Amino acid sequence: MIKVSPSILSADFAYLARDLAVVKESGAPYAHIDVMDGLFVPNISIGLCVISSIRKVTDLTLDVHLMIDRPVRYVERFCEAGADIVTVHVEADTEQNTLEALRKIRACGKKAAVCVKPKTPAEAVLPFLDLCSLVLVMTVEPGFGGQAFMADMMPKVQAIRAMIDARNPACELEVDGGVNVETAKTCVAAGANVLVAGSAYFKAADKAAFVSAVTAE
Ligand code: DX5
Ligand code: ZN
Repeated sequence: MIKVSPSILSADFAYLARDLAVVKESGAPYAHIDVMDGLFVPNISIGLCVISSIRKVTDLTLDVHLMIDRPVRYVERFCEAGADIVTVHVEADTEQNTLEALRKIRACGKKAAVCVKPKTPAEAVLPFLDLCSLVLVMTVEPGFGGQAFMADMMPKVQAIRAMIDARNPACELEVDGGVNVETAKTCVAAGANVLVAGSAYFKAADKAAFVSAVTAE
């Protein structure tokens, strides 16, 4: 099943409850939440207290993408704040600390995930795959919404799809960055099953139609 995870980075932060209700109403099962620390990426977005507030007003699956340095320091607090899926970047710490972060997330009863930036090869997810409920492949450089989709990431999506099918078939494969109705088809053809969409989703006049169009198989 193909799922859309609308990125609230493109929502109106003054009206998050309203925009999360719109996401729910449109039929999307997840809400993608981008956490940026101004260090791992050159931008600062939202953090723990906003996620705690969001948790109180929505039953959407909160798909939290941590673009923060050494996330092992904070993953338990994101779980306590109400995240359902917690994604850490493989580039953000040592292999040992990333493994520890994934184990901590799972010990909290939440879904653990790793993410790879565009320049990071597919093989970088291998040490973590057995602990992951989801792998996220960036199709833009992380940090900002509204960037152009990198179609040259599709061989990496295909390679990780093959690894998942061989080693951990229940694991989801998500793409993030520049996803719209057209590029979504390219991602699904390459093996992705969860599609983050920020600007394309929030710009769509008919969001239910957007969800239907990108999830049509
Ligand atoms: C970028 C974020 C994305 C972003 C996607 O660093 O990880 O989730 O919100 O936005 P669009 O869909 O506009 O590329
Ligand atoms: Zn993201």
